[in-house]
Amino acid sequence: MLRNTKTGYGRVAILFHWVMALMIAGMLAFGLYMTSLPSDDPELFTLYQLHKSIGFVVLALAALRLTWRLANPSPRLPDGMHPLERLGAHLGHIGLYALLFAMPLTGWLMASASPWGIPTIVFNVLPVPHLPVPEVLGTQAEAESFFKLLHAYGAYLLIALIFVHIAAAFKHHLIARDDTLKRMVSTAPARADN
Ligand code: HEM
Ligand code: HEM
Repeated sequence: MLRNTKTGYGRVAILFHWVMALMIAGMLAFGLYMTSLPSDDPELFTLYQLHKSIGFVVLALAALRLTWRLANPSPRLPDGMHPLERLGAHLGHIGLYALLFAMPLTGWLMASASPWGIPTIVFNVLPVPHLPVPEVLGTQAEAESFFKLLHAYGAYLLIALIFVHIAAAFKHHLIARDDTLKRMVSTAPARADN
């Protein structure tokens, strides 16, 4: 059962979800940790380069995941949800997807705008070009600060959304007692589609 059905997620979507959930949680903690270090920490450069490299893996996975999502049926939300809850669920998922792209992209733009001009070489193997930075953003340092701010606020927004997302998953599981959490763990609900 690789593909989604109207009643649940297939193996590929489940694998994408949990691999990326771990990577995102790890990258949020990583980003907050490395920016809390003193600027003369000898490991800082290596940590920043590792953060950037993993960020590009997240970007590639996000693109593959969205493609897979669009090429598959989307499981229906459980019956009996209030229209506002349905709207909240859709907006929440759109927000999460948007931030899966926005975090690496603002990071990439920040690195591209930086007056330091440090090249990005993913895991020291794959060179990534700098993105063009719009001139309206001012000097390179100003543009870098702008994307730094977007990257940091994006991270705080993502953390908030993840907390709401997890709370919603447990509300479905423990209070509504429907298949929502089960279908992100097992393909059994997907197989029930006929
Ligand atoms: C899933 C993707 C990513 C996540 C979740 C993430 C998360 C974070 C977080 C939480 C911070 C700390 C923000 C703060 O409090 O100032 C941070 C900082 C940073 N990130 Fe990312 N990041 C991601 C991808 C990237 C990518 C792809 C790049 C560059 C190519 C990048 C470059 C940076 C840099 C340079 C900083 C340090 C900013 C500073 O010095 O204040 N990040 N990131
Ligand atoms: C930590 C980062 C996480 C991110 C970025 C994330 C992101 C997402 C996204 C984008 C979807 C929509 C999937 C789709 O329809 O294509 C989703 C679904 C889901 N997530 Fe997460 N998730 C995270 C963590 C978690 C955790 C920790 C749980 C459980 C406690 C969870 C439970 C679920 C469930 C049950 C669904 C299915 C919702 C439905 O069937 O409509 N997620 N998640």
